[in-house]
Amino acid sequence: MNLNYKLKAGIKTVLAPLLFRGYPITLAAERLYLWMDILCKTLDVEGDVVEVGVMHGGTAILAKKLLKRLGSEKNSYAYDTFEGFVEKQVEEELKRGLNIRFRNH
Ligand SMILES: C[S@@+](CC[C@H](N)C(=O)[O-])C[C@H]1O[C@@H](n2cnc3c(N)ncnc32)[C@H](O)[C@@H]1O
Repeated sequence: MNLNYKLKAGIKTVLAPLLFRGYPITLAAERLYLWMDILCKTLDVEGDVVEVGVMHGGTAILAKKLLKRLGSEKNSYAYDTFEGFVEKQVEEELKRGLNIRFRNH
């Protein structure tokens, strides 16, 4: 268990009403755009929606609202390790040359 991550996550959760004016979204803008775009483009695809890595649930709430506004009746499922990114994932992203600047460990 990553104690530093747990401490930061705990503080953010307690301070969430002060830190976030709207939904508690911590995702980088370009990633948020991609997620919303994918939801729109896959409206006609059969099945439900799964978000892996919901943290405080900001994008999950926004995604659910978007789907509802667009008339979708898909179920939404939200998952998180609640311990940050797993080491294997960070290594993989580094290998692919992805920007891990915003990662939480
Ligand atoms: C950038 S935050 C997510 C932001 C969130 N979607 C929002 O509304 O702002 C990334 C989250 O993904 C989680 N996470 C990372 N790797 C994961 C994995 N393999 N499985 C589940 N959750 C994961 C982390 O614990 C962290 O809470």
